[in-house]
Amino acid sequence: MSKDSLSIRHNRTGKTVEYPLLQGTLGKETVDIRAIHKDLDCFTYDPGFTATASCKSHITFIDGDKGVLLYRGYPIEQLAEHCNYLEVAYLLMNGELPNATQLQDFSLEVAHRSMVHESLRNFFDGFSYDAHPMAMLVGVVGSLSAFYHSELNMKDPEHRRVCAVRMIAKMPTIAAASYRHSVGKPFVYPRLDLGYCENFLNMMFSRSSPNYIDPNYSVDPIEKKALNLLLILHADHEQNASTSTVRLTGSTGANPYACIAAGIAALWGPAHGGANEAVLRMLKQIGSVDRIPEFIARAKDKDDPFRLMGFGHRVYKNFDPRATIIRQTCYEVLENSNRQDPLFELALALEEYALKDEYFIERKLYPNVDFYSGVIYRALNIPEEMFTVMFAIARTSGWLAHWLEMMADPSTPIGRPRQLYLGPEQRNIIPIDAR
Ligand code: CMC
Repeated sequence: MSKDSLSIRHNRTGKTVEYPLLQGTLGKETVDIRAIHKDLDCFTYDPGFTATASCKSHITFIDGDKGVLLYRGYPIEQLAEHCNYLEVAYLLMNGELPNATQLQDFSLEVAHRSMVHESLRNFFDGFSYDAHPMAMLVGVVGSLSAFYHSELNMKDPEHRRVCAVRMIAKMPTIAAASYRHSVGKPFVYPRLDLGYCENFLNMMFSRSSPNYIDPNYSVDPIEKKALNLLLILHADHEQNASTSTVRLTGSTGANPYACIAAGIAALWGPAHGGANEAVLRMLKQIGSVDRIPEFIARAKDKDDPFRLMGFGHRVYKNFDPRATIIRQTCYEVLENSNRQDPLFELALALEEYALKDEYFIERKLYPNVDFYSGVIYRALNIPEEMFTVMFAIARTSGWLAHWLEMMADPSTPIGRPRQLYLGPEQRNIIPIDAR
């Protein structure tokens, strides 16, 4: 019997089968149980995939107990300090950081691909003025394959690369257009002379229009830095719900725009990317420091659906390294804007209170990245409905890195989980007049 294996005995039949234990570069051993159906005539039950590795991946590593997050081996703290978002996007997709020429070429290509087809702009007119920007984002991104179908041979690596760069380039344009539509302002075209973050802020907030460039708008360097940081922190998080959705969708051979639209839809939920918006709503609901004990009590009450948004994480069980980095940026951005945000004060008080509470200590519930990201977005004047859209812009590079990795592997099977069926046994229909 191999030491690097795990034996499973079926107690009713007495049959024992050995399954190989796979060891990755880092992280826990993983049992390869793919043959269990054939060997023991049974499936495994793991709702929420809490113990199941759905793929092999070289992209991101998380050690939830130690609070470690690595993109292609580089700690998130170093990437946050030394890189811009496009460098990180390049790293995620290509496996190595770019040199200066590669970064310049990549940035230029992204800038050149940032325009959207003129007819695509008309899509926005079909949405109600008060549509949620995430609803528009899902719809418009899903429609991209109707406009860009010349490079959709998914067996061709160059086609896949072009789709990925195009998606990263157009995401801020579509996101800003969703916002401008929701506030009834004219769209602002992307500018080739601006960097990724500056361009996005310009498309969001300048008074430009299709025929006019606002000469008075310039992006504040601290705001640009904060946005760059937020995009890096949210760029990837291995096999989370939206990334797994992108992989599952991509495993059918669906086009990448449809896969990213599926990822955006999965991200929208309050337990995932919608959490930053939910945190702000929660802070407003709490309203003042003296009401914190009341809401902490509600969060602990199992009969009350209220949860402390921005607390807890499926993977991080000690601290979220992204939260540690971002907390400091909150101070910088607020100081720069000369703004005393009462919601930030409230957030800090809530954090302090919860971290001393036995319930939160016992369950290892700590603030996650989204506890603070909303406060920064608020200081950047980005409205709450746009928070999850911001997350989607950032995560696009991660989704695409996973999609590219999966598509390059010819052995990738279509994703098809099993189930434990608890419905009625086979039965016969009784004619309607006899029921
Ligand atoms: N407030 C109060 N209790 C909580 C919370 C919370 N935010 N999170 C978990 N718990 C309790 C939960 O009730 C359970 O208690 P018990 O053991 O008594 O039944 C225990 O802690 C374990 O919770 P769980 O739901 O089994 O943990 P999970 O790993 O399945 O859920 C989570 C993780 C993120 C969905 C959950 O913590 C949560 O809903 N948090 C609030 C939403 C949030 O901030 N989401 C953003 C995640 S970070 C962004 C991203 O990476 O996508």
